[in-house]
Amino acid sequence: MNKIVIAIDGFSSTGKSTIAKKIAKQLNYIYVDTGAMYRAVTYFALENNFIGDGFFYSEKLIEQLDKISINFKFNDIKGFAEVYLNGKNIESDIRTLRVSQFVSPVATLSEVRRKLVEQQQLMGKDKGMVMDGRDIGTVVFPDAELKIFMTASAETRAKRRYKELLERGHNLSYEDVLENVTTRDRIDSTREDSPLVKAEDAIEIDNSDLTIEEQLDTILDLASHSIAK
Ligand code: DC
Repeated sequence: MNKIVIAIDGFSSTGKSTIAKKIAKQLNYIYVDTGAMYRAVTYFALENNFIGDGFFYSEKLIEQLDKISINFKFNDIKGFAEVYLNGKNIESDIRTLRVSQFVSPVATLSEVRRKLVEQQQLMGKDKGMVMDGRDIGTVVFPDAELKIFMTASAETRAKRRYKELLERGHNLSYEDVLENVTTRDRIDSTREDSPLVKAEDAIEIDNSDLTIEEQLDTILDLASHSIAK
C-alpha cells in the first residue's frame, strides 16, 4: 500500500502527540515527536548550565552540538517510542515545566534547528511516518501528503496541560501553565527561523470542543483519501 507522511503542526499543548501516536498505531506507521528532540537539547543545555534563569550562553550550546546524540527507542509496555540523550532515557526529564520554560529560546537557534531537521528528514525518508511539531509541514516535509494544523484556545490548552502535569505529580499553579503556553506561542510564532505558521495546504482543526475519537476519525478519514491517491 502507498505510504505517506502525515505532518501534524500546531500550538503548544493542542494534544498533537496524543492524536499522532494513535494515528501511527492505527496505520502501523512510525511516530516521531519532534518537540521531544528540542526538549532533549534544552535538557542538555540546562544540565550543562548553558541556560538558566536570566542567562543563555547560546554560543556554548552551539559549540557542543556535535556532542548531542538523540534517538528514540520503542517501549513495548508504554506503546510509544521514548527519547534518549547520549544513551540515557530522558523521556520523563524533558516533560517538566522547567524544560518547557527554556525550550522555546533554544528552538530559535538556527544551528539547533538545522541539526534536528536533518535528522527528522532522514527518519521520514521511507515515509509511513506521522511527525508532530511546529514546522513539519512547512520546513521538514513541505511535500507531506497530509498536513494538519491543530489549534485550540490558550485557556483550553493550559487546562489540559495543567491536569496532565498534576496527574504526573508536578506541583504548580494553573497561572504558571497558562503563562508558559502563551509565552511559548509568542516565541514559536515570531522567531525568525521556521516560525510556527500554518502551511497553505494544511487542514486546520480547532479541537477545543472535539473528543479524541472525533479528531482521530477526521484525520484517519483524510489519511485514507491521501493513501488512496
Ligand atoms: O511539542 P512540544 O511542546 O513538546 O515542543 C516543545 C518546543 O519545541 C516548542 O515550544 C517549540 C519547539 N519546537 C519547534 O520549534 N519545532 C518543532 N518541530 C517542534 C518543537
